Amino acid sequence: MKAVVWHGPGDIRLDDVSDPTIQEPNDAVVRITTSAICGTDLHMVRGTMAGMEPGTVLGHEAVGVVEETGPGVRNLPKGTRVVIGSTVGCGYCSYCRSGTYSQCDNANPNGRNAGTAFFGGPGPTGPFDGMQAEYVRVPFANVGAVPVPEGVTDEQAIMVSDIFPTAWFGGRLAEVGQGDTVAVLGAGPVGQFAVVSALLQGAGRVIVVDGVPSRLEAARRLGGEAVDYNAEDPVQVLQEITGGSGPDRVIDAVGVDSERPKTGPAAEGAEPAEQAEQERAQVAPDSGQRGEQWEPGDGPSQAALWAVQGIAKAGTIGVIGVYPQTYATYPFGQAFMKNLTIRTGNCPHRRYIPDLLRLVASGVVDPATVMTQHEGVTNAIEAYETFDRREEGWIKTVLSTS
Ligand SMILES: NC(=O)c1ccc[n+]([C@@H]2O[C@H](COP(=O)([O-])OP(=O)(O)OC[C@H]3O[C@@H](n4cnc5c(N)ncnc54)[C@H](O)[C@@H]3O)[C@@H](O)[C@H]2O)c1
Ligand SMILES: [Zn+2]
Ligand SMILES: [Zn+2]
Repeated sequence: MKAVVWHGPGDIRLDDVSDPTIQEPNDAVVRITTSAICGTDLHMVRGTMAGMEPGTVLGHEAVGVVEETGPGVRNLPKGTRVVIGSTVGCGYCSYCRSGTYSQCDNANPNGRNAGTAFFGGPGPTGPFDGMQAEYVRVPFANVGAVPVPEGVTDEQAIMVSDIFPTAWFGGRLAEVGQGDTVAVLGAGPVGQFAVVSALLQGAGRVIVVDGVPSRLEAARRLGGEAVDYNAEDPVQVLQEITGGSGPDRVIDAVGVDSERPKTGPAAEGAEPAEQAEQERAQVAPDSGQRGEQWEPGDGPSQAALWAVQGIAKAGTIGVIGVYPQTYATYPFGQAFMKNLTIRTGNCPHRRYIPDLLRLVASGVVDPATVMTQHEGVTNAIEAYETFDRREEGWIKTVLSTS
């Protein structure tokens, strides 16, 4: 089958690889009809998320059709159309049973304390071959592959694989409640869904910070108030438009590939270049950068700093942007002095997928409005390159493999 394979930082290829097979009783093999590229994939290609093993198939978002199941999968007849959550959970350990599927005791072959198990990720996450491919082996498929209701299209369902649950989780981490003013840092696909999620969770206002005008424009159409950090100082604006207090809640939907402002008043007070360079060398010793392509963010702590500086005293920050294990410079002292609450982690996708599918099926949310590009899998590498460059209009890239 064809699949997008990671060979090294900055080196991904569309290869012919062998088809997956059933290996454990709870496995299913799913024929993928729609897959997508996530910002997390970019960290892995840019080199800001280390530990990738050459030969790993990338991708952790998919919708497909069940082809074959092991004897432990009692709930998925062949031919069932399913959405597959990005993280793997067994469904029976105490963590899964309390909804914290991303800290499952049994899914990660490296052991119960090795961290979140997910598709298409670094060695310590499994590794499990990912879903930017024609077929995938889904471990614990009886739990992780969720039937898609009739009437929900592939293009809608693919958003429920990772980014919508992640954004929803960001709102829950940030403790968004009725009337709250919420700032979302980052207007990529996850940030866009964070706007939608925060509004559904009761936010009175949602303010979105990014440096890419087309992404800010998209967030505005969803109901967000836009702040361009290359034109204004976001910390100052967040305070000014909230009567001097700052937002109650912040969702960090940027993570380690955070950028420093390039122009405008915020450029002066930005994270010092020298400090940023040290952090970048620490998190991405093997950068995949090729000219303008696969460039790691030049301010790993910039979004974290703005979150801590911009938020109201005693506010709550939900961090869903990925910071890898090698990142150790969160502005903790400033958070301490403001009595902040900071909550973070990998999304326990399966906890939210069924409810979010219901929101989509009932027409409350049309997630396909966030998706702006389609590519056949043969164009996958080009699609990656374009998504990496954050080109105008490219928000979520969906790969169709059928
Ligand atoms: N926690 C989880 O389980 C989980 C799941 C999925 C994705 N993620 C993470 O969520 C983050 C966003 O994903 P995405 O697909 O939207 O990625 P993306 O790369 O498309 O979006 C990131 C956005 O942040 C903006 N940005 C850069 N520096 C900024 C700054 N200093 N302040 C504000 N905005 C800034 C960029 O312009 C871009 O629009 C990534 O870190 C991804 O790895 C986490
Ligand atoms: Zn993702
Ligand atoms: Zn479990």
